[in-house]
Amino acid sequence: MFKQKINKLLIGTNNRGKLREIRSLLPKSIKIYSTSGFNLKSPVENGKTFEENSLIKSKYFSKKTGLMCLADDSGLEIDILNKNPGIYSARWGGKYGDFGKAIKRVYNSLNKKDKNWKNKKIKAKFICALSISYLNKKITCVVGKVEGYISNEPKGKNGFGYDPIFIPLKKRKTFGEMKPSQKYKMDHRYQAFKKIRKFL
Ligand code: IMP
Repeated sequence: MFKQKINKLLIGTNNRGKLREIRSLLPKSIKIYSTSGFNLKSPVENGKTFEENSLIKSKYFSKKTGLMCLADDSGLEIDILNKNPGIYSARWGGKYGDFGKAIKRVYNSLNKKDKNWKNKKIKAKFICALSISYLNKKITCVVGKVEGYISNEPKGKNGFGYDPIFIPLKKRKTFGEMKPSQKYKMDHRYQAFKKIRKFL
């Protein structure tokens, strides 16, 4: 069991939306490093689960920099699409990570599955696996989720990725329409974050 409090940490992501959000969740007393300072490419994510891919990233970035690393692997699971895009959420945006393209693919897939989908509640959830590793050693790996449904059309310009098409349960706005501070207090990353707080 890892007993010490962490005082410096690399955030193992090249995704600026995630970096911004994770930064805002971490205590100010921790010195934070980002991958951009090291000019590192992302590793190949060939795990079969969010947890496996999160650990691939935290171990890889830690080994490359010698720093303890916090990494996230996350994505959107849509029930009637057999939980796709799931761990392929980033890959649905193509080589250049085009979120508009990923969203189109979601709507195309829903149209193919059920012509009448807009009249139904399309259940979905965002999932986030957060892990902390030091070199090749896993310190922790936890999962957080937020449930909701898919909006009939993209709404809002805030956030990143699938934010404009996801409406959390009991809300009317998509994550893309919410202020970042509102989204950060309820999303999958925050739910995972609560479980690793004791390390920070
Ligand atoms: P990865 O974890 O880097 O493989 O990529 C996760 C992908 O899931 C991102 O590129 C987004 O498309 C999507 N995603 C993860 N978290 C969020 C979120 O909070 N909002 C919107 N999209 C997200």
